[in-house]
Amino acid sequence: MRCIAALDQGTQSTRFLLYNPNAELVASHHLEFEQITRQPGWVEHDPLEIWSTVLQCVENGLCTARRKHADLEVVALGITNQRETTMAWDRRTGQPLYNAIVWLDRRTSAICQRLTKELGSGDAFRGTTGLPVSTYFSAFKWLWLLENVEAVAAARAEGHCMVGTMDAWLMYNLTGGVNGGIFVTDVSNAARTCLMDIHSRRWDPALLERFQLSTDMLPCICSNAEVYGRIRDGPLAGVPIAGCLGDQQAAMLGQRCRPMEAKNTYGTGCFLLLHTGTEAVASQAGLLTTMAYQLGPEEPPQYALEGSIAIAGAGVSWLRDRMGLIDSAADSEAVASSVADTGGVYFVPAFGGLLAPHWRDDARGVILGLSSYTSRGHIVRALLEAITWQTKEVLDAMLKDAKQTGFKLLRVDGGASQNNLLMQLQADAIQIPVRRPKHLETTSLGAAFAAGIATGFWSKDWVLGSGATNQREDHTDFTPQVDRETVDRRFRCWQKAVVRSFDLE
Ligand code: G3P
Repeated sequence: MRCIAALDQGTQSTRFLLYNPNAELVASHHLEFEQITRQPGWVEHDPLEIWSTVLQCVENGLCTARRKHADLEVVALGITNQRETTMAWDRRTGQPLYNAIVWLDRRTSAICQRLTKELGSGDAFRGTTGLPVSTYFSAFKWLWLLENVEAVAAARAEGHCMVGTMDAWLMYNLTGGVNGGIFVTDVSNAARTCLMDIHSRRWDPALLERFQLSTDMLPCICSNAEVYGRIRDGPLAGVPIAGCLGDQQAAMLGQRCRPMEAKNTYGTGCFLLLHTGTEAVASQAGLLTTMAYQLGPEEPPQYALEGSIAIAGAGVSWLRDRMGLIDSAADSEAVASSVADTGGVYFVPAFGGLLAPHWRDDARGVILGLSSYTSRGHIVRALLEAITWQTKEVLDAMLKDAKQTGFKLLRVDGGASQNNLLMQLQADAIQIPVRRPKHLETTSLGAAFAAGIATGFWSKDWVLGSGATNQREDHTDFTPQVDRETVDRRFRCWQKAVVRSFDLE
C-alpha cells in the first residue's frame, strides 16, 4: 500500500504518522521530550534529544504500519514543526552550538525593549515582516545567542555558524547532516523569524544586518510543497522530503480552509489563523500578517492573519503538574463540569506575558474574584473560560482587520479541542458555531497534503476541492447556548482582569 508520511515536531512531543491514498490514518507513534527550564522565563529543548525522538518515532510508526500492511510503500514525507524555536549549529561538525531556544522563552525581553527604544516603536518591522518586536520571534533569539554565547559568536566570526528553525535542523539531519545535508526552510517558517520580507519572500538585507546575520548563515527559503531532498539513511532512505510547513499553517491546510475561513488550534498555546487569500492584510488590531502557504515554487503565495495565544493547553498542564488540581488533562472537563459556572472567578494565564492582541511582555498570570466559596472546580473552569476569552479577543481583532461583518463558524483542532466543555464554552464566548473534525491531527494531515501534492500522490484540487475526502464533512458542531448579553457582561469582567495582569514587574 502506498502512503504519505508526516513528521510533526511540536513543542511538547514529536509525532510520526502515515496516511493512505484516502488521507486516512494508517499508523502513528509519538514521544515526549524534556522541557528544559534553567531560569524563570527560559525554555529550551535539546536538539539531539529531539533528533533521537524523530528516529524512534519513524522506526516505531513504520513497524506498526508494516504489521498491518506488509506491502507498505512510503512515497514522500511532509514535515511540520513548532515555529520560531531557534537553533545554531556548527557547519564543520553538524553539532548544536547551544540548546534550541523555544518560542515561549522570554530571555530576549531586554533586547526587545532596547530595539523598541532605538526604533521608536514596537511596530517598526511590521511593514516588511508582518510582525511586531517580541520575544516570540527567532531573530531576537539569534541576536541573544550572538551576544551571549561565545561558541556561537566565534562560529559566526570564523564562518561556520548555521542558524535555522526546527524544520531546517530536521531536514539537514534527515538528508545527511555534515555528509551533504540540505540547508533549506519554507516560507511559513521563514515568515516567523522577523527576517523575511513577506512580500518578496526573501531574507531582508537591512534586517539581516541589524541582527548581525548573513544569508550564508541562513537556509534557502523554499515553497511549502516541492522536493527539497531525499532522506539519506534509515528505514526511509531514499524517500523524498516534499512538504514543509509551520505547524499552524499545516493545520490550516489540514482543515482545508478557504479564503476568509478561520481555524483555531488548541495546543500548548492557541493559534487562530484567518486565510486571507493572495492578499497580505496589514493588521491595525494587534494581529500578525503571515504566510498561509505556497503549494509549489511557481504557485501564488497565500497569506493569513494570525492571533497567537501563548497559553492554552499549557495552562491545563500547569493545573495538573504545578497545582495538582486535576489528575490528567482530560480530567479538566469533569472537574470544570462539576460546577455550573466559575463562581465569579476570572483567570488570565499570562504566565510569560501576553501575545496577540496585547503584546505585553510585562503581563503575568492573575486569578481574580476568589472567595471562601471558590472550589477547584471554579478555578479549573475559569482557566478553560480564559482560553475561550483569549480566542474571542483575537476573533474580534480579526473582524476589525479583515473588515468582516462576522464569521459563520470557527474550525477547531488540536489536543485540547477534545474537551467538549471547552468547545461548548468557546461557542458560547464567540456566539458562533464551533466545528471540530473527527480527525484532530490536522497539523500532520496538512504536512502530508503538502508532500502529497508535491509528488503527485494527490492533486491540489483533490486536497482543496469539495468532494474528494469526507474529512471536512465528518465533524461535531457546538452551537452557542448562552445569550449574548450574559457573554458580553462576563467578557467585560475578564477584560478588567487582563488590565490587572499588566505592569507586575
Ligand atoms: O508558534 C508556536 C507554535 O508553532 C507552537 O505550536 O502546537 O507546538 O504548541 P504547538
